[in-house]
Amino acid sequence: MPGSGPFPPEKPDQDFLACARETLTANDEGEFVKPGRHQYPHQWNWDAALVAMGLAHFDEARARKEVRSLLQGQWLDGMIPHVVYHNGSSDYFPGPDFWQIEQSVAAPPRVHTSGLVQPPLLATCIRRMHRRARDRQASLAFVREVYPRLLRWHRWLHRARDPEGTGLVAIVHPWESGTDNAARFVQPLMQVTPSQMPAYQRRDSAHVSADERPQHADYERFVYLIDRFRHWGYDPETMYQRSPFLVQDTLFNAVTYQAHEDLIALADQIGEPTAEIEGWRVRLRRAFTNKLWDDEEGLFFAFDARHHQLIRENGVATFLALYAGLADHAQAQVLVGAHLENPEEYAPDRHSRFLVPSQAKNNYFFEPRRYWRGPVWILINWMVMQGLERYGYAELAERVRRDSLALMRSGGFFEYYDPRDGSAAGASGFSWSAALALEMLEPLPLPETG
Ligand code: DGY
Repeated sequence: MPGSGPFPPEKPDQDFLACARETLTANDEGEFVKPGRHQYPHQWNWDAALVAMGLAHFDEARARKEVRSLLQGQWLDGMIPHVVYHNGSSDYFPGPDFWQIEQSVAAPPRVHTSGLVQPPLLATCIRRMHRRARDRQASLAFVREVYPRLLRWHRWLHRARDPEGTGLVAIVHPWESGTDNAARFVQPLMQVTPSQMPAYQRRDSAHVSADERPQHADYERFVYLIDRFRHWGYDPETMYQRSPFLVQDTLFNAVTYQAHEDLIALADQIGEPTAEIEGWRVRLRRAFTNKLWDDEEGLFFAFDARHHQLIRENGVATFLALYAGLADHAQAQVLVGAHLENPEEYAPDRHSRFLVPSQAKNNYFFEPRRYWRGPVWILINWMVMQGLERYGYAELAERVRRDSLALMRSGGFFEYYDPRDGSAAGASGFSWSAALALEMLEPLPLPETG
């Protein structure tokens, strides 16, 4: 691959580390750290998990508070929602009232939240926080405190989102994947026909240029789906049976599978049984490899469970099979050799300099600055990097890490970056980029201790 090769040893730069810490501190609203300076003024589920992991590098007590704040939003049935509104409404749409969660018998009594979920990164981040903790006693007590809540959350995922026992967990809205407008959702969204739309006003392009955000047709469907769910009182069974959008997603399931592994590690630390979690893992793995792998293309694809077909769009979510250890050796070789290292798809070439574009460059829907249609995201790079390490591609993993740090060093902590020239895009002062810079520069201690 152009530009790859052995790297000289790197000295972490103290100013850069301080900037990462300051970005998290500046976004601290007291109760929670907001994901970005202006764009996202509430607490998001997977952002909070990553933020807590970042805070744990310099303030363990504050990191634990971030998790406790998120858990305040946990629903009575175990669901951890994708947004918790600790501080009332703001200029962000949808605000707390739009969700009408009081229609649900399971909604938490004292906190406003959304009625959707996000990829369950929490157990993964808490395991890493615990490994890094200097105050071992406080950390172990914290693991004991939150473990039952994590277990109920993972149980909810399988009960509510896989009631048929397929092994794979489904999402009912693209926002649940965290990768809202990725090309893999175009086809299932085209089958959703909005009607009787509620009145609403988009606010997401107030702080970020409209051509870096999802298009109108996507957004209409995002809002329409929420309107259906609130009409159904967020009843999980109705949502699963009737949502016009039902996808068994590659990214969501890979994150879930890895989170189960991390939950097992946490259970081991505190002497809790693990057979139930192991059962989810066995079934998820079997279904993931049997159903989502496409031998012809050599890629993992999401499955449209409403229309019973694979969604053959080449996007970065396919590589999360490496992150979770869900690919066999031959599949890993194809994913890396034929795709990640292919300059027509992901690898740098004359037109693009940075790994890893979120959409293959030769995919019809590729747009280098539009949200999940092509820009490089630090979170995805962090997961791809771990996947590459796991399968023995150390040099390529290092390349992904270096590219990520170079993007943040030159462009600042932004939400995403244009893979062509590395210019920053999306929200500024982006918390998870800062958190992951810390994670990439200050490695975890080995081995894992109790
Ligand atoms: C947004 O507003 O763009 C978020 O992705 C929804 O969670």
